[in-house]
This record gives sequence, C-alpha cells and structure tokens, in this order.
Amino acid sequence: MYARIVGTGGYLPQKILSNRDLERMVDTSDEWIVTRTGIRQRHVAAEGQMSSDLALQASRKALEAAGIGPDQLDLIVMATTTPDMIFPSTACILQSKLGARGSPAFDLQAVCSGFVYALAVADMFIRSGQCRYALVVGAEVYSRILDWSDRATCVLFGDGAGAVVLAAAERPGILGSRLHADGGYTNMLAVPGQVAGGTVRGKPFVTMEGNAVFRFAVRVLCEVVEETLLACGLERSAIDWLVPHQANIRIIEATAKKLELPMDKVVVTVDRHANTSAASIPLALDEAVRDGRIRAGQRLLLEAVGGGFTWGAVLLQWG
Ligand code: ACO
Repeated sequence: MYARIVGTGGYLPQKILSNRDLERMVDTSDEWIVTRTGIRQRHVAAEGQMSSDLALQASRKALEAAGIGPDQLDLIVMATTTPDMIFPSTACILQSKLGARGSPAFDLQAVCSGFVYALAVADMFIRSGQCRYALVVGAEVYSRILDWSDRATCVLFGDGAGAVVLAAAERPGILGSRLHADGGYTNMLAVPGQVAGGTVRGKPFVTMEGNAVFRFAVRVLCEVVEETLLACGLERSAIDWLVPHQANIRIIEATAKKLELPMDKVVVTVDRHANTSAASIPLALDEAVRDGRIRAGQRLLLEAVGGGFTWGAVLLQWG
C-alpha cells in the first residue's frame, strides 16, 4: 500500500506587502531584501483572518482537484506554528469549517518543517491501512508573530496556506521520507513567549540568529536529501523537481548547488510569497502542478528545515 497525492490547493490572502511598503515601516531597502533573500513581496492576512480560514480555502481547492468531498476524509493533519487558539487544534476548527466530522484531526508543530513532517505522518497512516483519504495542510499567519519594528525578521515572512489530499494506492506515491530534530538550538530561532496567568510572558515575536540559521539550514538540508535518496535506492539524477521550503533564495541555491541540481529543476516562490513556514512547500507544489511544470511520472523531492531545529525530506513519484 502506498500514499499518492491526488489533489493540491493553495491560498494567499489578498493584501500584498511589497519591499517598498516595508521601506516606509523600517530602516530597510528593496535592494537589501532582494539581494540577501530573493524576496520581493509577501501576502498578509486581513484582520480577523485566521490560519483555519486560509487552510479552508486551500483545502477546498485540493479536495476539488482530488474529486472527493470533505465527508470522505479519514484524517486531517494540520501543520501550523500560528494556530487559531491554544486549543482546540486548528485541524479540528478546519474540520468543522469544511463541514466534516468524525475523522481524527490534529495539529503538528514542526515550524517550517511542519508540512514535510505532516506528509510523512499521513503517509504512515495510509500505508498501515488505517485510512484511505488524508488531508494534509500547512497554514500560517506569521504576520501576527512578527515584530514589525525589527527589520532583521519582519522582511522575511508571509501568510498563506497549501493543502494536499493523499489517497491510498497500489503504486507509489510517496517513495520514502526522513525526519530529524535537534532540540539544542532553541535560542537560534524561536517565539519564546508563553501565555500564563492571563498574560503573555516573554517575547511573543520571532527571534532569530540569521547567520547561524543560514549555515545550519544548508548543511542539514543537503544531508537529509542524500539520506532520503539512499533510503529509496536512488541517485541525485533521479530528481526531476526539487520543491524546497522557501526561506531564502540563497539557501535554496546553495542546497541546489550542493546537490548539483540546476535551478530550472527547482520550484521557487520565495520572491512572491516570502517564507510562509509550513505553508511554503504545499503552496509551491500547487503552483507547479497547476501551471503544468510537474507532470505524471516525475520524481519530486520536498525538503525543509525550521525551528526546533527540525528538518526532513519526502521523495515521491507524481501522477
Ligand atoms: N534591511 C537592511 N539591513 C538589514 C536588514 C534589513 N531588513 N536586516 C539586517 N540588516 C543589516 C544588519 O543589521 C547588518 O548590519 P551591520 O553589518 O551594520 O551590522 C547587515 O544588514 C548584515 O546582516 P547579516 O545578518 O550579516 O546579513 P546576512 O547576509 O546574514 O542576511 C539574513 C541576513 C537574510 C537573515 C540571512 O542570514 C538569512 O536568510 N538567514 C536565514 C534565516 C531564515 O531563513 N530564517 C527563516 C526561518 S528558518 C527557516 O525557515 C529555514
């Protein structure tokens, strides 16, 4: 038994914040942001628009592409760092908004690696025979956890959601995955605030050591891609498309270079979406599927690294 992606969907909030807009908010420049990150703009959720709202739009599109209804879902796994509430889980809220009930639904917290983690988990559910259809979603409203006066972080992130429907199938599908974490790097990337006694204690905004994150990201991404290929018995040349987490064009280029992959085999959205954390891979995947770049029979490598630190990769056969 294998798990195959049979539908994808993406959603970006209407409001676009360009680098020029940011120039009016903090001491930065379009030139600095583009040169250091490749980002030109990001989408920002409207007041009151939550992760579950973005997830709902992306999920409806994925379900439509898969040709199934929400009542046919046996599982919902939601990767988000920006849940609607402390509880219930955003997955449960999404299930209700979709008009479904009964199937297990839970959130998975692995920050920017969340979608890769969620896909690997849903794959296990399907391969063990426990479910036939699974909805895997990445949705984020990072605009709510950014200090908009901190130029080192606020220029990097955006809001959005992406979703896929996985179906049980006799042929692959997902060929293999590898996940990792090392909890020893909390200070390198975190939102350290906690809710206690009716107030927020500690900083409720993204804090980051940008340079250290950069070096760590390139190293572990290359390692996990090699490890996943080895586990699947495949060579680098077997990859038709790299669909990476979209944090920074320089991280993406450095990873592609180490893997000897030309950039025309890499799906890039970071210029228009910025870093949408758990949403970035399903958004990029959806874009390349819908514009016809990704075609039946091709092999895709999805990889991500994020706070935790967490990192992982999923290798799959399309169509
Ligand atoms: N505009 C203008 N100047 C800035 C800005 C800004 N937005 N931000 C920082 N600077 C300044 C710094 O203050 C510094 O000034 P100084 O030399 O006078 O001290 C200078 O620019 C250089 O700063 P660095 O941090 O050395 O710049 P660097 O080339 O490392 O780029 C960046 C910073 C873009 C954050 C890079 O380190 C990076 O992308 N790291 C990865 C971070 C990341 O992707 N995080 C996302 C979450 S993790 C993940 O998704 C993988």
